[in-house]
Amino acid sequence: MVYLTKLKHTGSVISSSDKFGAKMFEVAARYFSQYARGIFIGTGSGVVAQYFMQPPIPFSFVEKHPSFVRQFHERFGADTPLLAKDFFTLPIDESEEGLGNCVLVSCMPVTGMFYSEKLVEQFRDSLNSGSTIVQMSYTPFIKQIRLFDRLQREGFKVQRVSTVFFNIPPASVFVLRKA
Ligand SMILES: C[S@@+](CC[C@H](N)C(=O)[O-])C[C@H]1O[C@@H](n2cnc3c(N)ncnc32)[C@H](O)[C@@H]1O
Repeated sequence: MVYLTKLKHTGSVISSSDKFGAKMFEVAARYFSQYARGIFIGTGSGVVAQYFMQPPIPFSFVEKHPSFVRQFHERFGADTPLLAKDFFTLPIDESEEGLGNCVLVSCMPVTGMFYSEKLVEQFRDSLNSGSTIVQMSYTPFIKQIRLFDRLQREGFKVQRVSTVFFNIPPASVFVLRKA
C-alpha cells in the first residue's frame, strides 16, 4: 500500500502511485531509442518524475506551480534542473525547453476545464514536429477525452496502452503520435 503512505504532502487525495510512475517510465522508454531528448511536463510531487531521474537520454523537467517547484528541489536536490515554466509558453523546437522532436511525457491535466484551443495547438504542433507524447489521465477512455477525440479526427494516432488500477484513482497511459 505504498501509495497510501505517500499522499505526497499536496493536500490532495488524488495522487499517483509508484506503480503508475513505473508504468509511465516503461511506456516512455519504448521510444528512447528514437529521440535525442525528452521533456517531462507537470512534475507535481515527483511520484512519476522519480523514475525519470537517470534516463538514457537527457530529460528536461517543467512545472509551473511554485509549491511543486519547491517540492521537486526538496525531493531531488537543489542542483537537479527544473524549468519553472508554463507548458503553454514552451516553443516547438529542439531546444532544452522545446516540445519539438522529442519524447514528451505529460502528467499535466488535459480534461474538462483544462481543455483549450491552445492545448490542442501545442499538442498538434509537437506531434507534427515528430514528437511522441506519453500522457497520463484519470479518464480511462479515449472518446471521453475531448483533446484526444479532436486529435484523432485530425488524423493523429491516439492509443490507450495501459491502465494501472492500483492507483487512486485508476490511471491510464496514452500514447499520441503522428499517424
Ligand atoms: C496531476 S498533477 C501531477 C501528478 C504527479 N504524477 C504526481 O504524482 O504528483 C499535475 C501537475 O501538472 C502541473 N501543471 C498543470 N498545468 C501545467 C502547465 N500548464 N505547465 C506546467 N505544469 C503544469 C501542476 O502544477 C501539477 O503539479
